Amino acid sequence: MRGLKLSGKSGACRIMLGESLSNLEKYSGPNPIIITDANVRAMHGAQFPKGSEVIEIGLGEPNKTLQTVMKIYERLLALGADRSCTVVAIGGGIVCDVAGFAATTYMRGMRFGFVPTTLLAQVDASVGGKNGVNFNGYKNIVGTFSQPEFVLCDFEMLKTLPLREMRNGFAEIIKQAAIGDAQLFSFLEENCTHSLNLRRTALEKVVYDSLTVKSSIVSRDELEKGERMKLNFGHTLGHAIEKAAGLPHGEAISIGMVAAARISVKRGTLKEKDAARLVSLLEKIGLPIKMQGERSAVAEAMTKDKKKGGNAMRFVLLSGIGSAQVGEITVDELIGVSDDMR
Ligand code: GLY
Repeated sequence: MRGLKLSGKSGACRIMLGESLSNLEKYSGPNPIIITDANVRAMHGAQFPKGSEVIEIGLGEPNKTLQTVMKIYERLLALGADRSCTVVAIGGGIVCDVAGFAATTYMRGMRFGFVPTTLLAQVDASVGGKNGVNFNGYKNIVGTFSQPEFVLCDFEMLKTLPLREMRNGFAEIIKQAAIGDAQLFSFLEENCTHSLNLRRTALEKVVYDSLTVKSSIVSRDELEKGERMKLNFGHTLGHAIEKAAGLPHGEAISIGMVAAARISVKRGTLKEKDAARLVSLLEKIGLPIKMQGERSAVAEAMTKDKKKGGNAMRFVLLSGIGSAQVGEITVDELIGVSDDMR
């Protein structure tokens, strides 16, 4: 087992990699309140701590709402839960985001931890202290910054994940390597086969290294006033594609990263050969690199996002493999580049 520590203003988080779900109570204390969904419960419920109360939420993005949070509050009230209780979310990114929000707002904050069950949630959603829900068509617009006390990543849980779901996680791992760790990027180039047949030790290494990038950035800029924006590399166009074309998050940000690399080359911050390395690694993993989604729907999704942030749209450029900078872009420029990728 390997561990990492993330220290933010809102608290410190212990991240355990390669720990078993069966040891959960070592970190949560006895009888945590589990928040999960039906799929995860069917698959891993036998390993949940005996005697723990379980709150199930609905499956998928449509349930990432305040209504779901209210249902959790009702169950917590019915259970007589107070600040001495610990909530543990066991599930993918949606379960972690919703449960984290409920735990940080119920009674102004309970103790909470995460057991992410997908590679994507292990390398992104569960780490960094962002908790929240969607509202009025805006993604993650209502939420809190608050660190979970612990994140327990059990690699055995990934064994049942479909290949497409593993690729989603690799998109975020590649992103973290591209913005902050050139050595990890080279390791991925040398060791990732198309089928992602990484040995367990190699998987543990890439998750550890990519979380080192993320947790060190978050420790320096927890509230995303500057440097943390780099973690949004590929996400401006990616989120719009996710919404407009209904692609899974990792696939959408793969296309977004290709566009961002092309723009970086155009602006002179990135060498052509380094952009080609990124595209070829994404392809090797089996992630899409060509534009998808109706032009008008993608533009509309981006315009909606832009309104949320004011006139200037922040945009992450690469300045080399393993190095990024934050600049600005217009919707028209981004749509222009995405047209060249069709
Ligand atoms: N997923 C981006 C962040 O945590 O800041």
